[in-house]
Amino acid sequence: MKVLVIGSGAREHALCRSLSLDPAVTALHCAPGNAGIGEVAELHQVDALDGKAVAALATDLGAELVVVGPEAPLVAGVADAVREAGIPCFGPSGEAARLEGSKAFAKDVMAEAEVPTARSYVCTTPAEVDEALDAFGAPYVVKDDGLAAGKGVVVTGDLEQAKAHANACERVVIEEYLDGPEVSLFAITDGETVLPLQPAQDFKRALDGDEGPNTGGMGAYSPLPWAEPKLVDEVLRTVLQPTVDEMRRRGTPFSGLLYAGLAITSRGVRVIEFNARFGDPETQVVLARLKTPLAGVLLAAANGTLADLEPLRWSDDAAVTVVVASHNYPGTPRTGDPITGLDEVAAEDAPYAYVLHAGTKRDGDAVVSAGGRVLSVTATGADLVQARERAYTAVGRIRLDGSQYRTDIAAKAASGAV
Ligand code: AMP
Ligand code: GLY
Repeated sequence: MKVLVIGSGAREHALCRSLSLDPAVTALHCAPGNAGIGEVAELHQVDALDGKAVAALATDLGAELVVVGPEAPLVAGVADAVREAGIPCFGPSGEAARLEGSKAFAKDVMAEAEVPTARSYVCTTPAEVDEALDAFGAPYVVKDDGLAAGKGVVVTGDLEQAKAHANACERVVIEEYLDGPEVSLFAITDGETVLPLQPAQDFKRALDGDEGPNTGGMGAYSPLPWAEPKLVDEVLRTVLQPTVDEMRRRGTPFSGLLYAGLAITSRGVRVIEFNARFGDPETQVVLARLKTPLAGVLLAAANGTLADLEPLRWSDDAAVTVVVASHNYPGTPRTGDPITGLDEVAAEDAPYAYVLHAGTKRDGDAVVSAGGRVLSVTATGADLVQARERAYTAVGRIRLDGSQYRTDIAAKAASGAV
């Protein structure tokens, strides 16, 4: 099978790594990719937001499956364009990707499907904002309605900060604060059958101890030793299947990856958000544990034949990933700095720990930083303690001037303190 992956993050590197290990994959292409992906896939230049251009590239390459990684091309309808060209595509239509593209739309679908989520108001004027903030009280949760790469959400006890963020957005969703640990649960679906993956936990805040601003995600681990064994089945029954059924009922079936961001509150599971694609960095740890070859699973989702698939097989290993980010991330990052130590990780830590590239590019013989999240070091082990140890050993070999990473990824879970 010839596969083309669209995107350039560590998530796409993780997808390409798994696809490259799948014997059914005869050729692997990625556009635009990054320095690390270039080692496992042939790279191509394309404007990932231009559906016609992506479809033309897929046709030229004879691709038999296209996997669209990030949300922006999905919301722009790139999967639609690929399917119109007659090529199976893993990823929802532009209409269905609104589950991620508009928080207000997602709330509407959840209300219709009776999916448990935070109570919320959609506001467009300062008066509506004041009323909503007053109704829920502190801590305040204010979300930009549109796509914001994980950075459009402000959770704060400070009323003035909440108002300032709300009034800087055109349309905001203001909602009830949910406490309790967060879980990311992904499901692969063809619009009808829903196949949950293993749960993971992401670390959204920039700094240790969950301090600092929200980011795209600074690290993740799986499995969750503290979660109830019935969690996945419960979320399938109360969240994932009803949402997929409601999307089909609306005439906009959702096929691809449905990502439920959940809070496990004292009153039960609540949806914090939906995403329409694999999460980053959770994908790095989920795929590290998936034993079933990936291409066949993604193709079955694209072709509507998931019901015929054998159950997924999982490794008992634990996996941890630690994101190394540029100086100043999640603000405007510094780029162009050389990254060294990558060869040492490959020589000393493989196969248990490896580097997945995000914002990197080649500059002659060197690899230099080219984005906010630069790379994601992923490791597996018999348990979270060992996976953590291996991940941080490898992180310690990587040198990037001014870079930052969290030192407490999976620490609480590994010591039984979640
Ligand atoms: P989102 O982009 O909706 O996932 O929000 C980003 C992060 O903000 C989440 O991962 C949570 O940590 C936090 N957050 C969002 N909504 C809520 C909420 N209703 N209550 C508490 N925290 C929230
Ligand atoms: N890890 C959060 C996200 O992918 O949105």
